Amino acid sequence: MSKKIQAIRGMKDLLPKDSTLWLQVEQTIGTLFSAYGYKNIRTPMIEKTSTFCRAIGEVTDIVGKEMYSWQDTNAESISLRPEGTAGCVRAMIEHNLPREGLQKVFYLGAMFRRERPQKGRYRQFHQAGVEVFGSNNAKSDAELIMMSHSLWNELGLKNLHLEINTLGSEAARANYKGILVDYFNQHKNQLDKDSLERLAANPLRILDSKNAKLQNLINTAPKLIDYIDKESVEHFDEFKTYLKYLNIPYQINPRLVRGLDYYNRTVFEWTTPDLGTQETICAGGRYDGLVEKMGGKPTPAAGFAIGLERLILLLGAQNITLINKPPLSIYLAVLGDEAQLKSMQIFTKLRRALPGVILYNDINLGSFKSQFKKANKVGADFALILGTEELNNKQVSIKPLKRQGEQQSMTLDKAIDYFKSIL
Ligand code: HAM
Repeated sequence: MSKKIQAIRGMKDLLPKDSTLWLQVEQTIGTLFSAYGYKNIRTPMIEKTSTFCRAIGEVTDIVGKEMYSWQDTNAESISLRPEGTAGCVRAMIEHNLPREGLQKVFYLGAMFRRERPQKGRYRQFHQAGVEVFGSNNAKSDAELIMMSHSLWNELGLKNLHLEINTLGSEAARANYKGILVDYFNQHKNQLDKDSLERLAANPLRILDSKNAKLQNLINTAPKLIDYIDKESVEHFDEFKTYLKYLNIPYQINPRLVRGLDYYNRTVFEWTTPDLGTQETICAGGRYDGLVEKMGGKPTPAAGFAIGLERLILLLGAQNITLINKPPLSIYLAVLGDEAQLKSMQIFTKLRRALPGVILYNDINLGSFKSQFKKANKVGADFALILGTEELNNKQVSIKPLKRQGEQQSMTLDKAIDYFKSIL
């Protein structure tokens, strides 16, 4: 017997029963981001591996362990994108966009990381992200928080907590790194295998460790905030003042360092206790040095990305239903060869006259009885009937399927007026 056909581990189908909610969430996000003056950008799903290595950092988990990479036929290594920022930065530089002034972009799309799959963590997942290029002002960081916060409000989400931190300038962080390495070297015997690896490659990430046995050691480690440069401290203070004026509560988490190397100054995460271990719904921060590092003109930048699977899981966990009133739906039931042809014109006319109404064209044919059965199955409110009699009388008939009422015949224009009157 042949093996059962299956999707790749960690990659999920979005089935028709769930896709309405996804479309609605994506539309809400697109509308909201556009309302803040952000424009959609679509970069390729595959980039040169070097683009991700340079942007995200060679020694991060994402680049070191989780990327889907392979040699292209020209022997160049290419990778499926593990996140959206690197591609946006590459596109900004390639098309010289920051030269034209402030750039605010948003994207929605699939990302790929070979992580250990579990609830809320997949190997193909989707992010909705925004990036702003050309402002180093703390007001721009605050706008990112304001936008994400208004999305939670729009969707009716509760129980989301904002954690913030500042990583300071690159120089201040490099200095702190040295101090941290000295500290952990003094306590090397207490470190686990993972942290020993991080000590050599990326010591700040030890602060991120979830190992309970390390928490004491981490808590007493030197704090980055004590080594931050003056300008970054001021920037962070301004950011916090904006948050105060926005009335958005936050918690400073000095251990928030993020798993990608490009950040400086502000970093933040929105977390929730309602999703189990995969608690971060949205994360981001400032990355002022990245455009230059990747070959562009110095351009300050900041952004965030929301994990859409987690957002949808959270809507479910908080029993939030977005679909209030389903749109009116009409099933066009047709019998007879000539009526079949004519029905295509009627369908087109209805489509134009009744935007937003769901129209079902019967494409399997069959008796009226079987067509009404199908209409009931898809949950149509009305059947619009076109048989020989209607065709001869230049009329259509309306049959209510969910509400009381007799079947009635009338001209197509009258039928359209009728549907408009009940919309
Ligand atoms: P990130 O923290 O790696 O940041 O990912 C952002 C969000 O994507 C996470 O908070 C989570 O909700 C979701 N996510 C990440 N990995 C997975 C996964 N394996 N399965 C499901 N969801 C996942 C970034 O990607 C940055 N590019 C964000 C950013 C934009 N920073 C500045 N601009």
